[in-house]
Amino acid sequence: MMPPSLQNGNLCYIVLSAVSIGAVFVLYLTFVPNSPTLCPPHYAQTPQYSGKRNETLSQLPAKPMLLLWFWPENFRFSLSDCKTLMDIDGCFLTDDRSLYSKADAVLVFHKSIKWDLSNLPTSPRPPAQRWIWFHVESPTNTLKIPGLENLFNLTLNYRLDADITVRYRLFVREHPEEKFVMPKKDKLLCWIVSNNNPSTGTGVRTKYYNELKKHIEVTLFGKAYGRFLNYEDYFPTIASCKFYLSFENSIHRDYITEKFNAPLAVGTIPVVLGPPRENYEVFAPGNSFIHVNDFPSAKELAEYLFRLDKDEELYGSYFQWRKHLEARRHFVLQKQEFIKPICSACKYIGNHNEYKAPTNIYKWYFS
Ligand SMILES: *[C@@H]1O[C@H](CO)[C@@H](O)[C@H](O)[C@H]1NC(C)=O
Ligand SMILES: *[C@@H]1O[C@H](CO)[C@@H](O)[C@H](O)[C@H]1NC(C)=O
Repeated sequence: MMPPSLQNGNLCYIVLSAVSIGAVFVLYLTFVPNSPTLCPPHYAQTPQYSGKRNETLSQLPAKPMLLLWFWPENFRFSLSDCKTLMDIDGCFLTDDRSLYSKADAVLVFHKSIKWDLSNLPTSPRPPAQRWIWFHVESPTNTLKIPGLENLFNLTLNYRLDADITVRYRLFVREHPEEKFVMPKKDKLLCWIVSNNNPSTGTGVRTKYYNELKKHIEVTLFGKAYGRFLNYEDYFPTIASCKFYLSFENSIHRDYITEKFNAPLAVGTIPVVLGPPRENYEVFAPGNSFIHVNDFPSAKELAEYLFRLDKDEELYGSYFQWRKHLEARRHFVLQKQEFIKPICSACKYIGNHNEYKAPTNIYKWYFS
C-alpha cells in the first residue's frame, strides 16, 4: 500500500490513483457521523457548494446525479474539480445525503464502511439507483466486510475487468516526440518507500530489496526510511535517478500503481516487481521497463543495471517508446488522491444508465 508517502510537515505526497493505497486505516471508521440524521451538515466543504445548497435543491440539473456517500480517507476536494482539473462534467456530483432518494448512483468507498454496515444508506434504495463499490486497494489489503456481497451493481477499481477501471495509462502522442531530453542523472538506483508493514504484503519486495542491496547501492527516500520528500520533490527526485524500484506492496493481477507511472512520466527506467511481465505489457511496451523476473537472481539484475549504466545506447533503448507514447504525471498531493476515481465514476454515470444486476464483489475480487 502507500503510495510512497513522502511526508513532510503537512505536505504528503501521495497519489491519486486507481491504485493507491494510502491508508490511514483508523480514520475512516470515525469520520462519518453515525446517525444518518446528522448528515449532511458536515459535508459542506467548498464555498461554492455550501452556499448554494438550497438553490441546488430547487433546480436539480438534468444531468444524472452521483452521490458521494463518503469522502475517502476524509480527503475532500472541490466538487467542481472534476470539471476544472479533469474536464469531466457528465454528472451532477454531490455529497449531500439528503438527495439520496433522487440520486441515480451512489458511490461507496469500501474502506469507510463500518463492520456492521450501520453507516450505509438506511432508507430503501430507489429501484433505478445503482450502487458503486469504490475500492482501489489490492486484495491483500482488503477487509472482507460481511454483508456487502450483493449490494453493488458496479465496481470501481484498478482492475481491467472492473465496470469502471481507474488507472494510469500511456497515451498515444498526437505528434511524435521530436527529441527526448534525458533528465540529468546523479544517482543510479532509487526507491521511495513509505510503507514497510509486512501485514500489507510487503514481505516479498522487502526480501528482494535486502538481497539486491548487497550488490548495488540503492538511494532510499520516504517515510519508511526516515528520509521525507516534499511532494514537489517527488518527480524531480525520481528523474535524477537512472533506475527506480517500482516495487508493488503486494502482487496481484493489474495491480500496477503510480510507482510505475512516475518513472515512465519523468524519464527514468522502472525496475518492476509485481505481477508477471505479460501483465505489465498490457499497459506499457516491453522495452520501457525492467522486470525482476527477467533475471535469475538479484545479483544478476544488479550486474545488468551496471552494464546499462555504462552503455549509453543500451540505456537509451529503454526510452524509444516515448517517441509515440506518453506517460503523464499524476496528482501527488494526498488530498488529490481520489479525484481521479471519483470523477471517473461521474463520467461513467453520465454516459451509462444500463441495468446491472449486483456483482458478488468478493467472489469477483478474490478469485
Ligand atoms: C433553504 O432555505 C429555507 C429558507 O429560505 C430554509 O428554511 C431551509 O432550511 C433551507 N434549506 C437548506 C437545506 O439549506
Ligand atoms: C442494482 O442492484 C440491486 C441489488 O443490489 C438490484 O435490486 C437493482 O435492480 C439493481 N439496479 C440497477 C439499476 O441495476
